[in-house]
Amino acid sequence: MVTRRAALSVVGVEPVGPYTLLRVRRGGLEPGRPGQFFMLEAPGRLLPRPMSLCLAPPGELAFLVDPIGPGTRALCALGPGDHLRVLGPLGNGFDLDVERPLLVGGGIGIAPLPYLSQALGGPPAILGFRSPRHAEAAALLPRAEVVVEPTYVTEAMPLDRDVLACGPEPMLEAVRRLVPDAQLAWEAPMACGYGACYGCAVEIDGELRRLCVEGPVLAAARS
Ligand SMILES: Cc1cc2nc3c(=O)[nH]c(=O)nc-3n(C[C@H](O)[C@H](O)[C@H](O)COP(=O)(O)OP(=O)(O)OC[C@H]3O[C@@H](n4cnc5c(N)ncnc54)[C@H](O)[C@@H]3O)c2cc1C
Ligand code: FES
Repeated sequence: MVTRRAALSVVGVEPVGPYTLLRVRRGGLEPGRPGQFFMLEAPGRLLPRPMSLCLAPPGELAFLVDPIGPGTRALCALGPGDHLRVLGPLGNGFDLDVERPLLVGGGIGIAPLPYLSQALGGPPAILGFRSPRHAEAAALLPRAEVVVEPTYVTEAMPLDRDVLACGPEPMLEAVRRLVPDAQLAWEAPMACGYGACYGCAVEIDGELRRLCVEGPVLAAARS
């Protein structure tokens, strides 16, 4: 049976612009498919937090964390040797059977793209950030084209590609208007990550569904 839950030790905690790259020992966990996610629970926190896998170097899993609230700040405050509980990989990742991939990321939406890029053999990528400091994260995807606000990724995107995108909801909506069959990694608050709590229910194709089970990557409309 595949191990999906483990207490893993922190190997490194590295600043990447305003974000933190949290590297943990892989233990018995599989990295899964790009776009899948893990539930990460810092010691003393009541609820785990969903995080996309950013990188899977040998023997490690690495997550890029934006410290926007108590759960993510607790993850960024961990240090080497600390332990955290990890569950995953969970959900549905990107379909890698694409002919002319183009990766599109906005802000912390860059998180799943380094691992995705590796799986697809380094396709072209466009990344958008709100400031030059946030754009320091583009170092994780060295050959990507980078735009900073007031320029948006959608202004730089060729339209004849198989788009795989992750970013804030308005960016995903704008990408979908330009490329209706784009694969989009969506977000919703998640308490369990495996279908039990219904906390992540969103409308997908007109029906209320659990994003952690049906997604987070969807090629369908959600609202
Ligand atoms: C599948 C998936 C993958 C993710 N991958 C990453 C990642 O790789 N790196 C990363 O930094 N973050 C990622 N996130 C977002 C991250 O899980 C949330 O930012 C985190 O749970 C916030 O927890 P908190 O306790 O720090 O802040 P909270 O106090 O819980 O939230 C801070 C604010 O953000 C809102 N919020 C919280 N979670 C979400 C959410 N999931 N979607 C929309 N709004 C939310 C809250 O309503 C609140 O306004 C991912 C989310 C999902 C669903
Ligand atoms: S997070 Fe619990 S059902 Fe999706």
